[in-house]
Amino acid sequence: MRDPIRTQLSKRLVPNFARSDDELRASISERWDPERDTPWRCFLSDIAERNVGDALDALSAHPRFKLNYSVKTNPRDEMVALMHRNGVLAECISEGECDQAREHGYGPDEITYNGPRVIRNRRVNVAFADSVEAFAFYASRSDAMNVHGVRMRPRTIPSRFGVKSCELPNVIEIARASENVERLGVSFFSRPEDFGERQWREIADEVLGYAVDLESESGKPVTIFDLGGGFLAEAWMERFERDYAHVSEVAPRRLSNLDHIYVEPGQGLSTPVEALFLRVLEVRQRDDAREIVVDGGQPNLPQLRWLPHRVFWQGADGWIKLEDGRDRIFGCICTEEDVIRHDVQLPAHIAAGDVLAVADAGSYDSSMAFGFGQGQPVPRDS
Ligand SMILES: Cc1ncc(COP(=O)(O)O)c(C=O)c1O
Repeated sequence: MRDPIRTQLSKRLVPNFARSDDELRASISERWDPERDTPWRCFLSDIAERNVGDALDALSAHPRFKLNYSVKTNPRDEMVALMHRNGVLAECISEGECDQAREHGYGPDEITYNGPRVIRNRRVNVAFADSVEAFAFYASRSDAMNVHGVRMRPRTIPSRFGVKSCELPNVIEIARASENVERLGVSFFSRPEDFGERQWREIADEVLGYAVDLESESGKPVTIFDLGGGFLAEAWMERFERDYAHVSEVAPRRLSNLDHIYVEPGQGLSTPVEALFLRVLEVRQRDDAREIVVDGGQPNLPQLRWLPHRVFWQGADGWIKLEDGRDRIFGCICTEEDVIRHDVQLPAHIAAGDVLAVADAGSYDSSMAFGFGQGQPVPRDS
């Protein structure tokens, strides 16, 4: 039974996609199995269910909005199956991801393709071209997609992706000339660290302007406006609080043929859905603080440098979240970056053999985990 945890950002209640410490503690303590070898990456299915349920609840206030799950962010089968069960569309960047989605029951009309490698051999609902060249290729094909999309690069956003506004006339010309192009889509993707002085809403309005030009100058209707992802939970909550209502109101007014507004959160949905269980190998007393070495680290948590992780310790009376302090948790490979936390307070009685759960490990920590220092090349030579 879902028990939504809401956050009061201002007047409105919005979902807490990071999930609370208490929810994570409960999920972790229910799942920990002392028989398991560590490192053990554990899927917190209840947390995943709540996040997708809350996202669908919150988006239901905006009828044209559709949730697309960015498969690459966490492609584990349980996540893809969960999304399909809940009617969430699949957003893919490779034919392999399209095939995985199909295996979970997705039809071609439920798949969005939005990657820099052109898709050649799979039918999808919409493919967003990452370049004028890709758009021309898509426009040359009949029956490959229902909607021909283009990813735009907003002004001032440093990025290798998308068509620049100065190239839009080329896309317009191709769209106008091609009989295969019946409907159009426009997408953008902008991470908070790239906004600079700008607000997300202003960036969305700019791209909406490109969609309006594309529609009026090509004579073909724009039916999909895609707002991308790129947000950790807190930033995604801000979008719900401040921005989606604005887009929901303005976009259909400016684009009279608009059917759907897509959001493609990967991290927003999946960051809290996995925890990594580790064992303490050694406890060191230093002059200024204590340090522990554990049996996993950067290879299991490649986002360590960019993403803060909550850490829980299993004490005699249950699982305790480690508060901030001056102690450190080190991983066990030989890179300077392999530090799980440099700012925690370790429990007085922590000892070798104790178990920790590193939370917030469900996005690129999971999908980009690597095998360095484990004794065999990954991928192995064939
Ligand atoms: C087009 C597009 N959509 C969605 C995503 C998912 O982003 P995130 O997992 O950061 O939310 C990405 C990530 O690169 C992307 O490029």
